[in-house]
Amino acid sequence: MPTPRSLTTAPHRNFELEVVSGAWPTDISGEVTFASAQNTGELPHRIFDFGAICRLSLEPGARGAAPGRFAWQSVSIETPGKRLFNRHPELFAAGVLGYGSPFGAPNCSNTAPLPWGNRLYSTWDAGRPVELHPETLEFVAEVGHIDTWGGNSMDMPGVLPFLLSSAHPVADPERHCLWTVKGTLGLFGSDFGIQPSVVRYDRHDGSRVQHWPLEGVVFNGSLHTVSITRDWVILADSGNFKADPAEMMGGERTATIDSEVPVWLIRKEVLESTPSGSPVTPVCFTMAPPNGHYYAKYDDTDGVSIVWEGMDLMDLGLYLRPDDLDVNGHPVDPGAVGLYNMAMAPETIVEVVFDPESGKVLEQGLFKQDWTFNLQLSAMDWSTEGISHPTLHHVTYQGCRPGNISARAAALYEGRIDLDQVREETPGALCTFERGSMELKGRWEYPDTADHITSPAFAPRAVGADAGSSAFAGREPGGHDGYVVQPVCNDDGLRIELFDAAAVSAGPIAVLKGMHNECIPVVLHSAWGPQHHELAGDVERLHFRDELSPERLASVPEEYHASIFEVAEECDALL
Ligand SMILES: [Fe+2]
Repeated sequence: MPTPRSLTTAPHRNFELEVVSGAWPTDISGEVTFASAQNTGELPHRIFDFGAICRLSLEPGARGAAPGRFAWQSVSIETPGKRLFNRHPELFAAGVLGYGSPFGAPNCSNTAPLPWGNRLYSTWDAGRPVELHPETLEFVAEVGHIDTWGGNSMDMPGVLPFLLSSAHPVADPERHCLWTVKGTLGLFGSDFGIQPSVVRYDRHDGSRVQHWPLEGVVFNGSLHTVSITRDWVILADSGNFKADPAEMMGGERTATIDSEVPVWLIRKEVLESTPSGSPVTPVCFTMAPPNGHYYAKYDDTDGVSIVWEGMDLMDLGLYLRPDDLDVNGHPVDPGAVGLYNMAMAPETIVEVVFDPESGKVLEQGLFKQDWTFNLQLSAMDWSTEGISHPTLHHVTYQGCRPGNISARAAALYEGRIDLDQVREETPGALCTFERGSMELKGRWEYPDTADHITSPAFAPRAVGADAGSSAFAGREPGGHDGYVVQPVCNDDGLRIELFDAAAVSAGPIAVLKGMHNECIPVVLHSAWGPQHHELAGDVERLHFRDELSPERLASVPEEYHASIFEVAEECDALL
């Protein structure tokens, strides 16, 4: 059975859920937000479509739900680019890497929600972070004037910036800033590729950022995740997404992912003593396999310790086409067309310690089994206390899905793929690992392969019980004292399964289902956060209008200037 058809056919909408089994605990609070790509047009690769933010309240009756019921809400993220698309859809050309237009590259912010204190952001890899209203979820502003980012990632006309960035900026609990990244495409010396820069956005001023290019670093990949410790910023080539110039010109894709990737550590003190725009020199490491996500323990007293979620033979540049056969020779299900090609090998999770002095990487623990296919996403305690001293790391494996692996992909990876390993479907599983050792502490299996388990989130227990703790901290921070919220997509309706984080193997303690068995479209990352209602005051925000320089406007045909100013006026009214 391929992935549920509802992933590509279910509409974005609001609905309510109720408890259908078990008992909902009273010491859970807050909400889980999810990022999702909409289905607005004819994009061949759906992960590039315009974003929506979805929100599940974990408190019955909250966010407008009837007493005893739980609210699911979904709101389109109306960036300036989306507002221009609404007015002139015919001007937006659908390519393998998303939309292009005479206005520039729209920010399709669709990959991850990022709660930061009392503020909420949405992110993606080809645009700036976007701030959303914590009550209405409506678009508020993009982060940082394009000039303060050092300009576009590649010269192009238009009033919408083109910025390669990260879907996972990270909030610094001590410096009160977000760390993220910019990739600049071009010729550096004799090397053509991407030069990464570290980017810092200070909480009080969203109108500008600071940026520092990494001296001597050029690569051909992507920068999906940013992580930090108290003293270091950690960047890496994710290794699982490569733009293929031949494919962009209409040819067949030939690029494949690497077997190892570079990792760069930059000391925060160095950034703080270097003016924005000036280069800094990182400490370089190499890691295998390529990864999607990695998370450092914030306390680096004993070294830079990172859980590295490997993506072995997971190539996110590949997507399923209507004419594709799957790896078993069957036509790909129409409901799977446009989704990414799923993992072609079991995946490795490993905890490592980077030593910037010796340049060595010390492996602490590694886990990989025949069934660890599609390590999709993980859940952890993001409170300051939790990231400083993590205890448990919860991981969702979606299982092997041969119906979502194309024969085309298998041919491209001939010699690297073991076809005997990807012929059969295998169950998904929610697993718990001990931080530090990566010892498997718990596993709950989903033997019905019609169940597509997706982005889990950790909800701490009894948040606010200790007045001396940080805002996101529960009773005992670290990842063991609280709940794992596990969404299960199925064509018979979405289920929200709630687990005791310390006892995942015991199965869900409560299950929610929509009142009318509603399904949801595909969602990407999720994040837990406390409930907030007011837009944070006393901060500067970027106005779209401020980027409309005479030069940028002149690069767009004059007949569309009225639409640009209409959008600028709409965006002014949001601030
Ligand atoms: Fe991600």
